[in-house]
Order: sequence, then structure tokens, then C-alpha cells
Amino acid sequence: MSALPEILLLSGSLRTGSTNEAVLRTAQAVAPSVQVRAVMYGGLAELPHFNPDDDTDLSLPAPVSELRTAIDSAAGILICSPEYAGTLPGSFKNLLDWTVGGTEICDKPVAWINAAAPGRGQGMEATLRAVLGYTGADIVEPACVRVPVDRGGLAEGGLVADPEVRRQLAEVLGLLAASGARTPVPEQG
Ligand SMILES: Cc1cc2nc3c(=O)[nH]c(=O)nc-3n(C[C@H](O)[C@H](O)[C@H](O)COP(=O)(O)O)c2cc1C
Repeated sequence: MSALPEILLLSGSLRTGSTNEAVLRTAQAVAPSVQVRAVMYGGLAELPHFNPDDDTDLSLPAPVSELRTAIDSAAGILICSPEYAGTLPGSFKNLLDWTVGGTEICDKPVAWINAAAPGRGQGMEATLRAVLGYTGADIVEPACVRVPVDRGGLAEGGLVADPEVRRQLAEVLGLLAASGARTPVPEQG
């Protein structure tokens, strides 16, 4: 087991060649420089449509259990999502809906990166903030940043090469990990 704090990376895009996923993959690449282990969540497409009838211990779908376990194991969560029609992509809102009935995300340090062009993506951010408020996640404000990255800004290998972007991503991971280290561990028994 790694002794490094683990940050779970959640991309809101299912698109092959997604810029948002590329930003998170770049964060994953720079994570060791701030003594963080960043883990990419890959189950977005497998999550069923949220149905409260299935949100019980007896009938919880396996992909939802896996999502909740991944959240539970992480010291913090970093989200990078596109904006669709002025808000979050429906598939990503669906993921967040599945977190409401579990307790794993409560008090979990969470931040997001808005990788849209300057002046874009405010609807995505506003929805994310509102929904995370309902989940009880601990929004780490200094780690919620705008890092505009366009498709043409990706280097060979699909990562962001810009050293300033990479520095910002490392800083965000460090802030999240520090917040996770301060999160009180519930008493057992
Ligand atoms: C269905 C759809 C709706 C979109 N709506 C918006 C929008 O409301 N505001 C915006 O700034 N961009 C919008 N976009 C553009 C995407 O946010 C943009 O292409 C983003 O880079 C896609 O992220 P990805 O590369 O990670 O898939 C939309 C794209 C699609 C496909």
C-alpha cells in the first residue's frame, strides 16, 4: 500500500481525447512532485441511471459500490468537467447523484479545475458548487482554479506541456492532500 495521500480524479467528459481528462492525466503525471498519488476514476460510463429504488444496501449496483469505495479510500477528490448546455454533463451529474445517498463524500476535501476558455464554464462551476453542497463535500476554495487549456495545447502523448499549468496542477493536488490530512478521522466503536 502506498504511504502517499491518494487523490481521486473525476473527469466529467466521456469523450475520447477529452481535454478535461487530459488535464487530470497531467495532474496525475505531476502528482509525485508533491508527494501525492493521483488515481483516475474510469467508471463513469458504467454507472446506471440514478434510481432511488436501487440506492439501498441490498440492491446497490456494483459500479456504484466501486465508485463509493474509490471515494472512501481517497484523501480528496479533484474534478475537471466540461460545461454542456450551461451546466454539468448529465452523465457527471448522474455520478454526483449516486454520491448523495452514501456518506463517503461527506467532509471529503473536493476541488475542481475549470479548463474552459476564459469567460466560459461558469454554469458548470455554479452547478458543481450547488450539487457538492448537497452532498456535504468539503469544497477547498483555494484549490478550485481556472486553468484554460484548449485542444491544441496538448502535447504528444495527450498531456499538457505548459509548465505553468503543470505547476498549478501540482499546487492544487498539494492543497487537497493537505486538507485531507486535516480531515478528522471518525472515532471507531
Ligand atoms: C452538447 C454540448 C454542449 C456544450 N455546451 C457548452 C456550454 O454551454 N458552454 C461552453 O462553454 N461550452 C459548451 N460546450 C463545449 C464543451 O464544453 C467543450 O468542447 C469542452 O472542451 C469539451 O470537453 P472535453 O474536451 O473534455 O470533452 C458544449 C459541448 C457539447 C458537446
